[in-house]
Amino acid sequence: MDVTIRIATEADLPAIVDIYNQSIPGGWSTADTRPITVADRVEWFRKFDPARRPIWVAEIDGTVAATAYLSSFYGGRPAYDATAEISVYIATAFHRRGLGRTLKQFVIDQCPRLGVTTLLSMYFDHNDATRRINEGFGFEVAGHLREIAVVQGQKRGLVIAALRIPPAAG
Ligand SMILES: CC(C)(COP(=O)(O)OP(=O)(O)OC[C@H]1O[C@@H](n2cnc3c(N)ncnc32)[C@H](O)[C@@H]1OP(=O)(O)O)[C@@H](O)C(=O)NCCC(=O)NCCS
Repeated sequence: MDVTIRIATEADLPAIVDIYNQSIPGGWSTADTRPITVADRVEWFRKFDPARRPIWVAEIDGTVAATAYLSSFYGGRPAYDATAEISVYIATAFHRRGLGRTLKQFVIDQCPRLGVTTLLSMYFDHNDATRRINEGFGFEVAGHLREIAVVQGQKRGLVIAALRIPPAAG
């Protein structure tokens, strides 16, 4: 599988929104319960910063198949500048081909350059794919907020996992 990962541009936003919306019916990734629109996400998209908090897309044979991004923690309070949350969304048609793991590896590798030394992953406690990927990279579970959400009528918990990443040399 030939994967090209690059910084997203605003022209990618329809694909990013479409991929995000594909994850809603599964009920195991996002706390959104209704599809979002491109208009909903324009301001959100413009806040990404390639130098600190990028948003990337992964293309397979010229098709945008996935997106990953870093968000600031705790509303971006400066004391948490070196902490960011990772999000990864793969288009349903490309699930279970190793792309989730590939994209997370890519983002981890970018962290020293971006000044991120603590990478957080927050996921529903029934999201087995994310748990498996995180375990492989050595994320440590820092917290488990049981039954904190209701998704499709079911109580779900939120796991907070953290990966420590050595800072860039020099
Ligand atoms: C979670 C997600 C990113 C995984 O991506 P993926 O490309 O399908 O995963 P991979 O092919 O890299 O598989 C990684 C591991 O998860 C397992 N896995 C994948 N989908 C799974 C599923 N639905 N149920 C259980 N395990 C699953 C794979 O078998 C593999 O396990 P391994 O440890 O034996 O190798 C993808 O399913 C997705 O985009 N889901 C919706 C959004 C989401 O949940 N994002 C994470 C929170 S931000």
